[in-house]
Amino acid sequence: MAGLRHAAALALGALGVGALWRLALAQPEEACPSGSCAADDPALLQKQARASTRQAIHAGLDAPLGQAAAQPGPAPPVPDGWEPCPGLLYGTPNTSFAKAPSEEEFVAALAELDLTAVMDDMTQLMTDSQSCWPGDWGSYVGLFTRLTWHAAGTFRNTDGSGGDGGGRQRFDPEASWEDNTNLDKARGLLWPLKEKYGDGLSWADLIALAGTQTQWASGMPFKEFCFGRLDDEDGAKSLPLGPGEMQEEMAPCTGPVNGMCQMQPNETALAPTTVGLIYVNPGGPMGVPDPAKSVDEIRVVFGKMGHDDKATVALIGGGHAFGKCHGACSKFEYEEPAGLPPNMAFAEGTYPYVGKCPNLDGGVTGMGNATWTSGFEGPWTSTPTRWSNEYFTYLLDYEWEPWLGPGGAIQWRMKENPDDPRMRLTTDIALIKDPEYLKYVELFASNLTALNEAYDFSWTSLTSNGGGWSTKKICVPYGPPPAPGATTPTSMLNTDPR
Ligand code: HEM
Repeated sequence: MAGLRHAAALALGALGVGALWRLALAQPEEACPSGSCAADDPALLQKQARASTRQAIHAGLDAPLGQAAAQPGPAPPVPDGWEPCPGLLYGTPNTSFAKAPSEEEFVAALAELDLTAVMDDMTQLMTDSQSCWPGDWGSYVGLFTRLTWHAAGTFRNTDGSGGDGGGRQRFDPEASWEDNTNLDKARGLLWPLKEKYGDGLSWADLIALAGTQTQWASGMPFKEFCFGRLDDEDGAKSLPLGPGEMQEEMAPCTGPVNGMCQMQPNETALAPTTVGLIYVNPGGPMGVPDPAKSVDEIRVVFGKMGHDDKATVALIGGGHAFGKCHGACSKFEYEEPAGLPPNMAFAEGTYPYVGKCPNLDGGVTGMGNATWTSGFEGPWTSTPTRWSNEYFTYLLDYEWEPWLGPGGAIQWRMKENPDDPRMRLTTDIALIKDPEYLKYVELFASNLTALNEAYDFSWTSLTSNGGGWSTKKICVPYGPPPAPGATTPTSMLNTDPR
């Protein structure tokens, strides 16, 4: 019984508050009929938590098990001046639940799916910038690459938890992690493809494809993409990732505070330094901009994610070829400038992440050039919608200095060219503060083919790691990516000629 109470409490962390009082009425014995619940049996705890989550979700929906909503719950009122993307509540269900096909149904539907059409549609979507969340430089390659990375980067080789399989980033706890700020927009933008292709296109495949296809269309020569990831119906399998009691039990933080969780990395299955981040603090350990100290954190965290030094450097610098950081206004001037995470927003009957930065270009508050996501600001390269190794060449060729950026966080700029918008995070600078990492920075700066091969390998393993795959996996080979400019804008600023 103690075990069940414990598991039920864990499940609560993954639910909206509306369901809480109903869960209190649930009959614990029903979920533990044999009386064999053991507080120290992680598998049993997880099973019980899942049952409790379901129970509460279904109670909250007033629908019997098996008939619960494939549709989102009632839409909250739209805040003044805000325009939620039509698919937002499908990508982040405010019911914490979405019906998924059985494995058998999925495999049958996948076999019928026109995979090339799905992939072509994703390429089109990349530059189909929507007014509900405009793409930076007219492209979603940065946003979608971060989406895929954050869904897949939860994998830990310590106990096999996490990974993109299951598509659980749609649900709490992951949906409300600080690191996943504004990824509700990315998932919402993907909904038209999910709606069009139905059961054969799982959310987990759609999320993995979003970053892979758009990077390929922007010049990164991937060899293939494999479909076949199953969807979960809720976020229960992510409870061991935290935050919550199940994570504290299965994968505790081994430091005195959240943020120092890898003080004894061999003593815990937990992978990130901070529960709620996918990996490390981008601003350095506990936000202190010390790149040399950041090295150890990166090595431990990426090691637990399953990547060696070469793959780690390829992933960080390759990923940051694309997109930008968002910190349009100072967090010291605007409280919670990104708005509220889904769990708090839904509890308050509003939309997640309604940003607060004023749009100085006359656009909508909190989006486009007025977006606040991490509080850092700026792109890494001069062609953030096009694959390149410029991240590495500039890291080596220029001296970088720390400064307080417009979002209120310390970031790095080129000392001899402080007005250049290109930036680096403390964790980026870390890659030249360690001899092993430096070796690969030098390799990738001088040899684009070496970067292509290392990135293809590490991205493919990133997006394949973990469970949640069906018995049927279908891989589609890629040809050479389209030539520059054929599908993506290549200029750096919105105002640059295209
Ligand atoms: C030490 C590891 C890493 C840290 C600390 C880090 C940190 C960050 C931060 C703070 C942002 C800004 C988010 C925003 O304000 O919008 C960001 C963006 C981004 N990251 Fe990373 N990152 C890491 C590794 C990676 C990896 C491995 C990839 C992919 C392989 C990646 C891909 C991206 C992309 C594409 C963006 C741009 C998002 C956009 O344009 O909206 N990052 N990262």
